[in-house]
Amino acid sequence: MKIMKKVIVKNSTADKITSGFPWIYRNEIMAIEEPVEPGELVRLHARGDAFLGIGYINPLSQITARILSREDRPIDTEFLTGKISKALQKRLELPKVTTAYRLIHAEADELPGLVVDHYAGYLAVQINTAGMERLRPLILSCLVETVQPVGIYEKSEEKFRAKEGLTTEEKTLHGHIPESILIEEHGARFIVRLKESQKTGFYLDQRRNRQRVISYVKAGFDVLDLFSNTGGFGIHAALRGARSVRLVDISAAALKQAEENIRLNQLKGVETARSDAFNYIREAYAKGRFFDLIIIDPPSFAQTRRTKESASRAFRQLISGCLRLLRGGGVLAVFSCSQAVAMEDLKEASLKASGDTGSRLDILDYLLQDTDHPVRLHIPNSLYLKGLLIRKEM
Ligand SMILES: C[S@@+](CC[C@H](N)C(=O)[O-])C[C@H]1O[C@@H](n2cnc3c(N)ncnc32)[C@H](O)[C@@H]1O
Repeated sequence: MKIMKKVIVKNSTADKITSGFPWIYRNEIMAIEEPVEPGELVRLHARGDAFLGIGYINPLSQITARILSREDRPIDTEFLTGKISKALQKRLELPKVTTAYRLIHAEADELPGLVVDHYAGYLAVQINTAGMERLRPLILSCLVETVQPVGIYEKSEEKFRAKEGLTTEEKTLHGHIPESILIEEHGARFIVRLKESQKTGFYLDQRRNRQRVISYVKAGFDVLDLFSNTGGFGIHAALRGARSVRLVDISAAALKQAEENIRLNQLKGVETARSDAFNYIREAYAKGRFFDLIIIDPPSFAQTRRTKESASRAFRQLISGCLRLLRGGGVLAVFSCSQAVAMEDLKEASLKASGDTGSRLDILDYLLQDTDHPVRLHIPNSLYLKGLLIRKEM
């Protein structure tokens, strides 16, 4: 085994690592044995030399080291295959309801910097750190061996890679990738265009929430799906018997795919509107339109706690606007996909919005990301998607 350089961390950090947290920030490092290359594998030790784990380091990144193994072992085919198999085991139930799921969710599957989605036999891969970049050939061969995909497509996220000093390229890494892939989720069919779509292809994290939210749909319902992307919530609502569904998104590419999804599921009464959601709400109010179910699923408004205040204002504005469009007895689902926004923040924004509009609200449920995006108790920021399901009193 190649000798790995030693990195000494502060005692408080050592405790954190021992309890399972995988990140070491720059100011937590006491000493590095020799100069290291971005992404190099290192051995992490506490002061006094106690071994803490094997990880990778990138002096360019604020999150300077990430733990791969708490065991003193090589990071090889056996290690990676073991992690992929463990991740597959955790997702054994999902193929009963869907042909698409997240297979590897980075730190939450003990592979920091790596995200892999499975779409009906094809894989979309994000390699977001210099450490994972150095393991790229090994990762690819282990994925091919363990999952046997027809094709693998890389959709690494520029915003993460830039922080690591890496450039970004989207490309086919293995086999063949068609222009469109057909997936099924709880009986609904969706087209995923890996080469055009946002993120890794489809918002898989909302799968369970889509079921929970549309369980309230009754025949004759009018549904508004704000920030709809390709129609995840709205298509399900229409299949459940909604009279009308309006999908609103600012992205023309997302709505083009939404229209394909409407045709694919042979739906009537589903329309798309390309608009800024804030403007759409104002215009719908001016036209006197009302709905029985509204979904608000915006992109991350706050990347950090510093921007949380403006995110809270945006949520209050969105929820107030939607409460004015909601019929008495109607249901509103509001989501935040930002780690920096807590469930309490969504509750507070809803409380203020209820004051703004003079509505009384019941909380029906608290919602989280689906199980293929594991929430690890010892990694608090693995919980990012939160949702509040509320009913407006008659
Ligand atoms: C988290 S995704 C929604 C996922 C979707 N609910 C689903 O289940 O597939 C957020 C969406 O908001 C859209 N978006 C971003 N800013 C917007 C805005 N100001 N108005 C409307 N849509 C916006 C993006 O194009 C993206 O499709």
